[in-house]
Amino acid sequence: MTALTVTTTFPASLTAECLVIGVARGPEGPVPVLGAAAVDGAVVGALTDLLTTLGATGAEGETVRLPAPAGIGAGLVLAVGLGDADDGDYDDEALRRAAGVAARDLAGAGRVALALPTPTADAVEAVALGALLGSYTFTAYRTDDGPAAVRELTILADDPRSHASALRRADVLGEEVNRARDLINTPPNDLHPESFAAAVAAAGRTYGLAVEVYDEEALAANGFGGILGVGQGSVRAPRLVRIAHTHAGATTRLAFVGKGITYDSGGISLKPVGANEIMKRDMSGAAAVFAAVLAVARLDLPVDVTGWLALAENMPSGSALRPGDVLRTYGGRTVEVLNTDAEGRLVLADALVRAGEERPDAIVDVATLTAAMRFGLGNHVFGVMANDDAFRDRVVAAARAAGEQAWPMPLPAELRRSLNSRVADIANFGERMGGGLVAGLFLREFVPAGVPWAHLDIAGPAFNEGQPHGYTPDGGTGCAVRTLVRLAQDTAIGGVR
Ligand code: BES
Ligand code: MN
Ligand code: ZN
Repeated sequence: MTALTVTTTFPASLTAECLVIGVARGPEGPVPVLGAAAVDGAVVGALTDLLTTLGATGAEGETVRLPAPAGIGAGLVLAVGLGDADDGDYDDEALRRAAGVAARDLAGAGRVALALPTPTADAVEAVALGALLGSYTFTAYRTDDGPAAVRELTILADDPRSHASALRRADVLGEEVNRARDLINTPPNDLHPESFAAAVAAAGRTYGLAVEVYDEEALAANGFGGILGVGQGSVRAPRLVRIAHTHAGATTRLAFVGKGITYDSGGISLKPVGANEIMKRDMSGAAAVFAAVLAVARLDLPVDVTGWLALAENMPSGSALRPGDVLRTYGGRTVEVLNTDAEGRLVLADALVRAGEERPDAIVDVATLTAAMRFGLGNHVFGVMANDDAFRDRVVAAARAAGEQAWPMPLPAELRRSLNSRVADIANFGERMGGGLVAGLFLREFVPAGVPWAHLDIAGPAFNEGQPHGYTPDGGTGCAVRTLVRLAQDTAIGGVR
């Protein structure tokens, strides 16, 4: 794990291997941006000359390495492009990305100092979080020399003492997003419902949160037919996990519900080769919920948050769910299973009804639910559906404020009839066109009337199959953790409405 500190701004007396600076795109070429760093004009002039010679443009994400000129106590300078400033200011997301690019570029370095612009506590937090997220590596399964992270990061800022809480927030958020990434990246032979539940119980003990685990007997005794049905084809039995943060001063109670399919083969409606290699990702919603509840607890936010993790492995076997089976979900509603690959909505149905029993002020579920949402929004944006437009917009705003890309999606009433079943209350498979919205309409049926609910379909951005970028590594991204924490923070005072 990368260690993070803040220090005052005398680059001359640094003893770092590398100093990271920003580069803006100026009208006459690259402009070095050293944030609050106290350096004289000669040093800036030397940097400008070097950057110009090396062809730096200041484009967002560009990196240029140069020897440090006299007056900087580091051997190397890494210049990271910041793009065009908005009124001379960079927004928090630009700073997070620049810090993340630097941390990735300097992987393996010992001591790195960051002199990115830090005019406010929020900017300090953004640089710190971007650096921690960009430093992420997943090496648990390597016996060779895997990727290494930066060992020590120091942020140069004007008044380090005043930034303690910004650093603390970045530390907690960075650790929790990285915890979600670790869980997503862990292969499904090791991360299955039982081991996932054990990890939640262990974290609950560490941070003093109440954790309740429904094993297969408790699920059967209480009629959780959706979770049991999806899990019945696997030798790994399913679980439902409840983890709760409570605060004496809380006036708002939120429920977060996560889809936790530790491996999605499709079941009897088996996925083809090419579609099942990274279906370990299908528990990303549960990982996000788990990590977000821990972050809210560790930051001691004055809000009650209960996380529900619906954990099962979707496998084909002689005991597996068949297309045509009818399940009795928690609370009694029946579902005809027409496609066993539409399993997420089955486990979520149980968990949504159970979460709703506690009458929270709002429910948010997070799920890698549909390929259709990826076709619609791509791999960088998640879709937000809701039974309440105002609440949907609050969730989208929370995502934006947290630096995650979300977009509001409709729940057109016309699509609901495609889920009508010949034999049961509802079918799990309907119209293919707008499949992400059809899934949302299915889930809505299991939310109690009068409770604001939002559904985050993170099937695209939960897992980065492409190149790393900004502070996003390849593999599990930890998508939605920051949005959930931000929503808890936004609704803590004043409630949901
Ligand atoms: N977990 C998948 C959705 C998914 C696909 C997530 C690719 C991430 C990457 C989900 O369980 C699923 O299989 N959905 C089906 C639903 C369909 C059968 C109605 C889909 O989207 O094709
Ligand atoms: Mn599936
Ligand atoms: Zn799935």
